[in-house]
Amino acid sequence: MSGEIQIDQARLTSELQTLATFTGAEPVTDGTSVTRIVFSPDDLRARAWLKELATAEGLEVRDDAVGNIFIRWIGTDPDLPAVATGSHTDAIPHAGMYDGTVGVLGGLEAIRALKRTGLRPRRSIELVMLTSEEPTRFGIGCLGSRLISGTLDPVRADAMQDKDEATLATVRTAAGFSGSLASVQLPPNHYHAWLELHIEQGPLLEREGIPLGIVTSIAAPAGYRFTITGFGGHAGALLMPDRKDALCAAAELILSIEKHALATGAIDTVATVGTCDVHPGAVNSVPSRVVLQLDIRDTDPTRRESVMQAIRQDCEDLRHRRKVTITEEMVNADAPTQSSSHIVELLEETCKAQNIPYKKMVSRAYHDSLFIARIAPIAMIFIPCRNGVSHKPDEYASPADTTLGVQVLATVLAKLASE
Ligand code: GLV
Ligand code: MN
Ligand code: MN
Repeated sequence: MSGEIQIDQARLTSELQTLATFTGAEPVTDGTSVTRIVFSPDDLRARAWLKELATAEGLEVRDDAVGNIFIRWIGTDPDLPAVATGSHTDAIPHAGMYDGTVGVLGGLEAIRALKRTGLRPRRSIELVMLTSEEPTRFGIGCLGSRLISGTLDPVRADAMQDKDEATLATVRTAAGFSGSLASVQLPPNHYHAWLELHIEQGPLLEREGIPLGIVTSIAAPAGYRFTITGFGGHAGALLMPDRKDALCAAAELILSIEKHALATGAIDTVATVGTCDVHPGAVNSVPSRVVLQLDIRDTDPTRRESVMQAIRQDCEDLRHRRKVTITEEMVNADAPTQSSSHIVELLEETCKAQNIPYKKMVSRAYHDSLFIARIAPIAMIFIPCRNGVSHKPDEYASPADTTLGVQVLATVLAKLASE
C-alpha cells in the first residue's frame, strides 16, 4: 500500500441516506423509518443502485439464484480464495437506516479507500450483499448466507411461503433470480476470510465510551411457530363456559415463554414473541386460531433447549386446562459460532497500532457471519449505536464511528488480502 487509507466520510454518509430513501409503502410517521422487505420494489431498487455504484468503480458484479450480490475487486493472484466482507440491505418493518447497510456501503467504501491508496491486493477482495438477513417475509433469517453455507435445504427454501402464500421460488423468479438454489452453495475453501462490519444493536460500546467492538462469538438463534386452535364463534352468543378461546391460551403461552427465559437468570437468554396472528381477527368473534412466532436465543444452546422444554410442559398444561390444540413447528435452531482467533488478532493489532480503544464482545444479535462461519474463518467489527437502539426508526450510528469502523475494516481486509 503506498498511501494512507482515507475514508470518504461525506460520501458514505450521503450514500447511507440515499439507501434509506428506498423504503416501503407503509406510512412513515417519523420521517426516518425504513422498511425494505426482500424482493419488494424498494429492495430491487436498492440492489440496482448498489450495482451501479459498484460498476462505476470498475468492480466485477454478479448475483446468484437467490439474489446474493457479489462485488469483486480482482487481486493480482485471482485464483487464490478471496477475502470477503459484506452484510445485508433488507430492513424489517419500521426499522432504521444503519442495520446491515453500514456493512454493505462501508464495505464498498473500504474497497474504494484501498484502491485510492494505490494498493494492488494479492487476493481478490469481495463485497457481498446477502439476501434477506431479516426473517420478515419468509419467517427465517439469513436466507442468502444459509444457502451459501449449505445450512438450508434448497428444496425446502424454494417452497417457503410468505404471508400471501407466494413461494420463494415464485417470488425470486419474478424478481429476476432464476436457476437452482442448490447452485448458491459455496465450497469451504471459497473464501480465505470473512469480516463483517455492523452496528452493535446494543448499548455496551456507547455506555462504556468505546468506539469499536471486536466480536468473538455470536449467540445461537432459534425460531418456532406455535399454532393454537380452540373453538370460536359469536362474541355475544357463545357462552363463556363453552369457549376455547385460542387467544387467551396464546396469552398464557406468551407469559410462560417470558417467565422461563427470565428464570435462567442468564443475561444471554432472550425470548420474544414478535408476531401474533389471530383468526378470524374480528372484534365480535371469539378467536378460534392463533399463530405465534417465537424468537429465542442464547449463547448456550443447551440452556436454550431447556427453556424450550419448560415451555413445552406449559403447552401440555394449557392443552388440558383450556381444551385447545397446540402444534409446534421448528423454523430454525442454530448453533453459536466463534470468531477466528487469527482475524481477531489482526483486528486487535490494528486497533493498537492506530490507538483505537476496543472491546472484545459477544454478539447477541445474529448476523450472516454466523452462517458464513461454516465455510470460512470469520470475525465482526461492531460500532456503537445511539442508546443501543436498533430495529427501530431512531437507530443511529455517528458518521465518525462509522468511518472509524470502515477504516479498521479496510486495514484488516488489506492485511488478509496480502496473506
Ligand atoms: C438480526 O436482524 C437479528 O434479529 O438478530
Ligand atoms: Mn436486523
Ligand atoms: Mn443486521
